[in-house]
Amino acid sequence: MDTTKERLDELRRRKARSEAGGGQQRVDAQHKKGKMTARERLEFLLDEGSFQEIDALVEHRCKDFEMDKNVIPGDGVICGYGTIGGRPIYCFAQDFTVYGGSLGEMHGLKICKVLDLALKTGVPVIGLNDSGGARIQEGVASLGSYAEIFFRNVRASGVVPQISVIMGPCAGGAVYSPAITDFVIMVDKTAHMFITGPEVIKTVTNEVVSFEDLGGAETHGSKSGVSHFTAENDEEALELARELVGMLPSNNMEKPPYKSSSDSADRLCESLNELIPDEMEKPYEVRKAIEGILDEGAFLEVQSDWAANIVVGFGHLAGNTVGVVANQPSILAGCLDIDASDKAARFVRFCDSFNIPLITLVDVPGFLPGTNQEWGGIIRHGAKLLYAYSEATVPKMTVILRKAYGGAYDVMGSKHVRADLNIAWPSAQISVMGAQGAVEIIHRNRINNARNPEQERERLVDEFNETLLNPWKAASLGYLDDVIEPQDTRRRLASTLAMLLDKEELRPARKHGNIPL
Ligand code: HXC
Repeated sequence: MDTTKERLDELRRRKARSEAGGGQQRVDAQHKKGKMTARERLEFLLDEGSFQEIDALVEHRCKDFEMDKNVIPGDGVICGYGTIGGRPIYCFAQDFTVYGGSLGEMHGLKICKVLDLALKTGVPVIGLNDSGGARIQEGVASLGSYAEIFFRNVRASGVVPQISVIMGPCAGGAVYSPAITDFVIMVDKTAHMFITGPEVIKTVTNEVVSFEDLGGAETHGSKSGVSHFTAENDEEALELARELVGMLPSNNMEKPPYKSSSDSADRLCESLNELIPDEMEKPYEVRKAIEGILDEGAFLEVQSDWAANIVVGFGHLAGNTVGVVANQPSILAGCLDIDASDKAARFVRFCDSFNIPLITLVDVPGFLPGTNQEWGGIIRHGAKLLYAYSEATVPKMTVILRKAYGGAYDVMGSKHVRADLNIAWPSAQISVMGAQGAVEIIHRNRINNARNPEQERERLVDEFNETLLNPWKAASLGYLDDVIEPQDTRRRLASTLAMLLDKEELRPARKHGNIPL
């Protein structure tokens, strides 16, 4: 029979073995790549001293390829819970020093345990990914564990926020867990995500591409839209995860945390009176409007480099977390295209899932014309945004800054898709289309038959502008609740939000809708 001391020594030895991971040499190699170890990452992510580990003693049970001779307790992933800003978080961090962070059966089941606990308790999950993918030696057992994770990611979707931080390789089917989660943060230069790597691509398509060009943070942040945030290094990525989760509720039954601010809800934004240029076609920076409206001008932009013709992100208004969607007139004139529709639709649905009120700032000349867009399915993609706004039951407040043309007027949080507040600046132009296009269609004969067609066209454009390109018709129909001075936007939105915070709106019972994917 062991003595107490022997039993404690045995426990300590096993825990130390687990903590050592793949050993000092591999830890040094990790550091040499500019990466923290999995444990260091968790320490940094969570409030000091709050991390509690689960399953440090789990071991793989593979005997093939002499795997039974190399068993490392913990099996390459560190799982547990802790707090961020005092609020509970479940988390896991893959340990690249153990079998390259590859996911075997038990490694995967450890992550599943964390996801199950998060779902049962209504607590967000942050996953730190750094893995060579499916553990090759474990074959289908590894694939099975992956699918168990994907299934749980889907079950937890819309119930608890899920954030993936990619801090190393994330290859093959492994990418689908992050892709299902709500937000992907990638570390520049060290994170790579792809379905098939450069070697396979070379064999199959003869294309030559580097890891970085194929699936680096810049690629996924600007070309594919897979990633939502890019961080310079591990520390910045973890700070971002902390900031993001701090703005979100813990689950779909809660409201987002309140953040007190010294910025008065009544503050005038005088500069907004001058934001819209006198020349109708001149671009301006819509972020200035967003920053003017939000508490202390603080805006956490999501997917800032992808589909930049629409801006989405989080901020606070009078202490309440809000989601902002705004057309960006300085990129593609703020047109809605395929990517912008996808980006905004997903963001609107996230906000609706987690009780985050929406502010929409509209300046949109319509959907982007062209065969690229039509053949790429702009009808299907644009419909997603329409669907997302229509199904959202969170408080929805819309401000038309300038253009709101055609179908895009309807889509962008109009009264007709049940926004709760619709207001406009005096510069608003709400119309089926712009004046140039409109007069060509409705006055074609008149222009052609005129003694001076150019002059007549100009006169008719002016007449159209005066008659229809303004907010007055929409206000007279009650489609706008008010037309306000731009400088009053913050205080009007803040006072309306205070009235809407307890809004309840039901939709017909159904299994789920059929969003046009
Ligand atoms: C088992 C693996 C592994 C894997 C890496 N290792 N990937 N062990 N299964 N998938 C081990 C290596 O043997 C090595 O062990 C250690 O991890 C570090 O790997 P290195 O190659 O030395 O590191 P590095 O040069 O930094 O390269 C990292 C890498 C590379 C780019 C990730 O290891 C690699 O290409 N791995 C294979 C990636 C892959 O094809 N995975 C399967 C994808 S398909 P030692 O003992 O030497 O330290 C997939 C399907 C998922 O994942 C499907 C889900 C549905």
